[in-house]
Amino acid sequence: MIEELDNQVATLRELARQKDKVDARKNSGSPSPAAAMGRAPSERKVPHTMAITSGKGGVGKTLVTVNLAINYARQGLKVLLIDADLGLANIDVVLGVTPSNTIEDVLSGELTLDEVAVEGPMGITILPAASGVAELSNLTEEQKLSLMDHIDHWHADFDVVLVDTGAGISPNVRFFVLAVERIMIVVTPDPASITDAYALMKVMFMNHRVSHFDLVVNQVSSEQEAKDVYRTLSQVADKYLNIGMNFAGSIPEDPLLVKSVRQQRPVADLYPDAPASQAFIALSKRVMRMWQQKRHDDGRMIFFWRRLLNEMPKDGQPKDDQETTKE
Ligand SMILES: Nc1ncnc2c1ncn2[C@@H]1O[C@H](COP(=O)(O)OP(=O)(O)OP(=O)(O)O)[C@@H](O)[C@H]1O
Ligand SMILES: [Mg+2]
Repeated sequence: MIEELDNQVATLRELARQKDKVDARKNSGSPSPAAAMGRAPSERKVPHTMAITSGKGGVGKTLVTVNLAINYARQGLKVLLIDADLGLANIDVVLGVTPSNTIEDVLSGELTLDEVAVEGPMGITILPAASGVAELSNLTEEQKLSLMDHIDHWHADFDVVLVDTGAGISPNVRFFVLAVERIMIVVTPDPASITDAYALMKVMFMNHRVSHFDLVVNQVSSEQEAKDVYRTLSQVADKYLNIGMNFAGSIPEDPLLVKSVRQQRPVADLYPDAPASQAFIALSKRVMRMWQQKRHDDGRMIFFWRRLLNEMPKDGQPKDDQETTKE
């Protein structure tokens, strides 16, 4: 499976090189996409990217993703929410939006990413990407080039890109998780959730040398409980895997959050004073500080397939993941 991914990466890297050459030729005569949007190429935005994942299902990934998105959108940031979750309780359900197309339609050449994306509350853009990505290995060279072209023209419009993943480590999830700047693991105080989070980090470390994670402890009864979960997990992670873990925050168990899910509206909108809403504000601030303090891209364009294609050295491991980073 991993060899297969490495082969894909090698082929795609070569395609990216070819595409860059073609672009350079094209751009010598016509304005670049950045110039067309009134920006010099050096002014391209580099979005902050994060995947929200977990070992065990049903621990609050989608709620964390959606509420972070709402908070950033409120600050005037342009947010892209990628729904890579194949589970049932997806972003569209939580936000009450109904996408009629998927990223598969982009891969088949029928639609552009813009046409597939749907607009959620506060102008958030939602990309229903759950299907299609797993088929990357089946794409023709032409489709791959076309997809890269779409992404290149599109991603620079966003300030923040959040990826809601399914639980565990399916090929899709791995694909997204390896392409983003930071990986957030959601756990609850439930021992099964903690054990599964550890197992997920272990797989990511052993197979992909990912050595840094941000932890959110959800459904806690107190901040102390969250800190205890963090301490337990970070101690074993450090001792047995040499993984660095960062405490990103906690969200209390909150009946108003459950009520908001039933109404398919973000809790931050319906009940801004709810304890969970306040916790999401604090979490969004902390995550933004983490992004700003440590850019893993050194100012280069990183995002998604592009990063996976360009930044993978020959051994198949992303450069950033080769350092053991601890904060
Ligand atoms: N802080 C909380 N307080 C109360 N209930 C919560 C909280 N967080 C999550 N829940 C409950 O857990 C349910 C699952 O949350 P969510 O859909 O975000 O989990 P998930 O990790 O995305 O699940 P899946 O793995 O199926 O994608 C919510 O619908 C809600 O009922
Ligand atoms: Mg979910």
